[in-house]
Amino acid sequence: MRISFCCTGTPPEPWLSALRAALPQAQVELWSPGSPQADYAVVWAPPQQFLDEQSELKTIFTIGAGVDGLLKLQLPPQVALVRLEDAGMAVQMAEYVSHAVLRHFREFDAYESQARQGQWLQRRARRHADFPVGVLGLGVLGARVAQTLTQFDFPVNGWSRTAKVIEGVQCYADRNQLQQFLAATRILVCLLPLTDQTQGILNRDTLSRLLPGGYVINVARGAHLVDEDLIALLDIGQLAGATLDVFRTEPLPADHAFWTHPKIQITPHISARTLRKESVAQIVEKIMTLQRGESVAGFVNRQQGY
Ligand code: NAP
Ligand code: GLV
Repeated sequence: MRISFCCTGTPPEPWLSALRAALPQAQVELWSPGSPQADYAVVWAPPQQFLDEQSELKTIFTIGAGVDGLLKLQLPPQVALVRLEDAGMAVQMAEYVSHAVLRHFREFDAYESQARQGQWLQRRARRHADFPVGVLGLGVLGARVAQTLTQFDFPVNGWSRTAKVIEGVQCYADRNQLQQFLAATRILVCLLPLTDQTQGILNRDTLSRLLPGGYVINVARGAHLVDEDLIALLDIGQLAGATLDVFRTEPLPADHAFWTHPKIQITPHISARTLRKESVAQIVEKIMTLQRGESVAGFVNRQQGY
């Protein structure tokens, strides 16, 4: 069995060593133009040339959860795509979103600014009931985030394509329940995959439907958000703020208005990092399962786009 590794922006050596150690029977190689045909590939943002040349691949494993970038490329028709499922990302996402929600709810920015001015002032306590959180996308990451937030006593809503049952979470499904979901939500978290159906879903219309003083947390993909609509709603006071981890162009261009907007918090796409040990273990386990002729979870439905 031959495995080709082609992950742009990822130092390959530690990955190659880990894959070789876990699969001593396999030939694991760093791809370069003209490399021999492989059975499996481990990729992130591969060049089109890789896919054009590696025409006999059976399965491509990505070292990320989202496959929007990969699906923009021309893939060999027969190849199956398998994405990472959790692999240590769900707890990171729960940490990140909890931090953003609590920072806003407990007004930590205001307390920080007061402290810098030597001001001792206890602000009025807020009620969880007034800050219902809504999670768009109840998959591997969204479900974990929604469940975590219930532990802080926030009312939690969730929205997905197909109906879900999650303890403590009011679940909505499909486009026809989106407005109901938004109208019941004040802090909106986006954990959807980027597809034709979800592109631009955080826009003037949807964000205006949130409870007054809405707050937006986008940890999915930059293209879910219409940047200028967010800024307009923040500037007229319809929205209270936003925490953004992902952007239409990454790195976020130096002259982008988000950098300096007083109501926007920014991080450089770090809410849930790919962890090598966990990812290699998951991919190796799946390769061994496929080699036995059995099926694995995490296959991407190319028609649905995730
Ligand atoms: P997932 O398990 O595939 O979950 C996707 C969820 O979105 C599912 O609940 C799905 O509904 C729902 N969904 C998809 N299309 C929809 C639509 N048109 N309408 C309503 N709901 C829809 O994905 P995941 O592992 O949780 O990851 C989610 C996304 O997070 C990734 O695609 C990636 O873009 C992003 N991400 C970001 C970072 C970061 O560091 N910022 C890290 C990892 C991942 P069903 O359950 O009904 O199918
Ligand atoms: C990161 O954004 C991922 O999709 O894993």
